[in-house]
Amino acid sequence: MANGQCTVIVGCQWGDEGKGKIVDVLAEDVDVIARYQGGANAGHTVHIGEEQFILHQIPSGILHSGKRCLLGNGVVLDVLQFFEEYEALAKRGIDVEGRVGVSERAHLLLPYHKAHDRASEDKAAEKIGTTGRGIGPAYEAKAGRVGVRVADLRGGERMEKRVREGLERARQRIGGGSAEPKDELEADVRKSLELGGRLLGMATDTGLEVTRALRAGKRVLLEGAQGTALDLDHGTYPFVTSSNTTAGGAGTGVGIGPTAIDSVVGVVKAYTTRVGNGPLPSGFEPEMDQHIRDLGGEYGATTGRPRRCGWFDAVLARYAARVNGLTGVAVTKLDVLDTIPEILITVAYSTAHGDTEEFPADTWSLESVKPRYETHPGWQADTTRAKSLKDLPKNARAYLDRVEELTGAPITMVSVGTDRSQIIRV
Ligand code: GDP
Ligand code: IMO
Ligand code: MG
Repeated sequence: MANGQCTVIVGCQWGDEGKGKIVDVLAEDVDVIARYQGGANAGHTVHIGEEQFILHQIPSGILHSGKRCLLGNGVVLDVLQFFEEYEALAKRGIDVEGRVGVSERAHLLLPYHKAHDRASEDKAAEKIGTTGRGIGPAYEAKAGRVGVRVADLRGGERMEKRVREGLERARQRIGGGSAEPKDELEADVRKSLELGGRLLGMATDTGLEVTRALRAGKRVLLEGAQGTALDLDHGTYPFVTSSNTTAGGAGTGVGIGPTAIDSVVGVVKAYTTRVGNGPLPSGFEPEMDQHIRDLGGEYGATTGRPRRCGWFDAVLARYAARVNGLTGVAVTKLDVLDTIPEILITVAYSTAHGDTEEFPADTWSLESVKPRYETHPGWQADTTRAKSLKDLPKNARAYLDRVEELTGAPITMVSVGTDRSQIIRV
């Protein structure tokens, strides 16, 4: 069984694999769901009947009543947006009260981090195409040991001084020509700090909570954001996010040891997408790109930007299986390929130095690799009502078998639509 007592859910491509949907489905059978990294750059979509929810910082388990939802120390917490999200859920009738905990050790992402992020992108000759949510600057402050943590909100004058210095540092980095009016920025910082007392009311030691839950025999999901190819160490640097998105970051990001984790489920789309800049080796030609984008509704859940699309990349999937130590794979959006007559899979990259089946560290060389494809006949039939593998057309099953074989980890779930109910458990 791929889902154990403490399971990491991790994206295996460039994010937006459908982690939100998978976490929502698995959350029914667990007690605690915790985010371990990232911030409001994430956009995790969950559909329940006619309703759509997009979660940015609050774990996707929040839509199951009674489950405890935690934001770990590895998260950079945008205070203003966090409360906006919390209130919006409450307004929609979700019982958020008392269910959300934030790590005392999580770093605050303040409005000047966002201003800095946007200014850096505006000025950069080679843009990363960030979400503009302040992620890079907030992690920079954390690693630079000048950040402000949730626990610091108890600290009065010392905390205020660190915030003032952070604001000043950001201003210097932004330089002239910023679109961000000075007074507005200060007012937003003030607003964030005014919410400090409320945030402290939710503060907790997430490592301790998770450990106690596990000792009591409860089940825990650790919800990753972004994906393996966006990992700061293992992704397509510098076109990555600023955290460890991979499973190794999960223990660190909530405050438990690696031995407490017993399973890792990797989420992959049945094809590939990418939003933001950087190489996408198996990317489609423009016409097919638009076609799949339309079929799959491939527009960013956070920024609305169109996602670039391509064929399933088994080089990346196998790399992700290794880097994350996958015990299971959840394939999503199989239904998007229902009408496609021929489906390709990238099995290797052709480079100037010959073919390789390993994902290269050299991002610049990745821009010029030629994918080596394998062609599979499509199934051209509706999969959206399938409840088990045997309900799927023969060619769809063959495609999944090949994806599993090339990835090197067992498929444990297949998603065939946006709704909670459209899931095959293998
Ligand atoms: P996440 O960031 O990994 O949670 O993924 P996103 O929510 O950003 O993007 C995934 C999109 O695909 C969302 O709009 C989901 O509603 C949708 N989705 C998830 N699973 C499926 C599926 O099996 N089929 C279809 N058609 N859509 C899906
Ligand atoms: P979820 O959790 C897809 C991308 C951005 C950009 C790069 C760096 O919904 O899968 P950042 O704002 O993090 O500094 O941007 O990472 N990116 C994502 N792409 N899904 C996400 O999250 C992403 N979060 C960041 O587009 O290329
Ligand atoms: Mg997303």
